[in-house]
Amino acid sequence: MMHRHPVDLAHACRLINHGPTVLVSVRHEGRRNVMAAAWSMPVEFTPPRVAVVIDKSTFTRELVLASGGFALSVPCRALADLTYAVGSASGRDVDKFERHGITAFAGPKLGLPLIEGCVAWMECRRIAEPHSEAAYDTFFGEVVSAQADARVFANSRWSIGDDNADLHTLHHLGGGRFAVVSTTVQARKH
Ligand SMILES: Cc1cc2nc3c(=O)[nH]c(=O)nc-3n(C[C@H](O)[C@H](O)[C@H](O)COP(=O)(O)O)c2cc1C
Repeated sequence: MMHRHPVDLAHACRLINHGPTVLVSVRHEGRRNVMAAAWSMPVEFTPPRVAVVIDKSTFTRELVLASGGFALSVPCRALADLTYAVGSASGRDVDKFERHGITAFAGPKLGLPLIEGCVAWMECRRIAEPHSEAAYDTFFGEVVSAQADARVFANSRWSIGDDNADLHTLHHLGGGRFAVVSTTVQARKH
C-alpha cells in the first residue's frame, strides 16, 4: 500500500522544522548521488525555502552546482544504518545506490532521485548564493515539491506515537548515534 501523499507547499517547511537528519540526493547527466546531512533548516515560508550545509569536499556539492537542484529525503529509524553509511563514504568512485541497494523514485517536479523508505521528501531548486556556498558551504533551495508518509505526517503535521515507532525521524548526536523523538508535548495557549 502506498502511503506517500503530496504536502501543501505552504507547509513544506514543517517536514524539517524539528531538525531531522536528511539525505541529500542529486542527479546530473547520468550520475546520481546521496549523502547524509544533519545541518538543514527552513529559512522562509513563502515561497518555501530551505538551507543545507554541503561541504566542499563532497561529491554531492559538485552535482548540485552542475545540475542546479537537490532533493531532501527524511529517513526514519528503520534507515539509521543506511543514513550513517551514505554519510561515511563518498560517491565519487562508487554508486551508493547500487552499493547499498537503495531504491529511488523520481520526484514529481525535477525528476530528482527520492529515497524509498524515507518518511518525507522535497525537491529544491538551488538559489545561487556564491558567497554563502563558498564561505559557509550553505546552499539555499526553493522547495518545488513536497511529499510525506501519511502514517507519520498527516493533516500537515508530524504525528509521533507508539504505533509508528519505526517511522520516527533521526536526530544525529555524533558517531552514528541518533536520537529518535518518541513522544510529544502540547503547549497550552495563553
Ligand atoms: C549523520 C551524518 C550527518 C552528516 N551531516 C552533514 C552535513 O550536514 N553537511 C555535510 O556537508 N556533511 C555531512 N555529513 C558528511 C557527509 O554525509 C559525507 O561527507 C559524505 O560521505 C559525502 O558524500 P559524497 O562525497 O558522496 O557527497 C554527515 C554525515 C553523517 C553520517
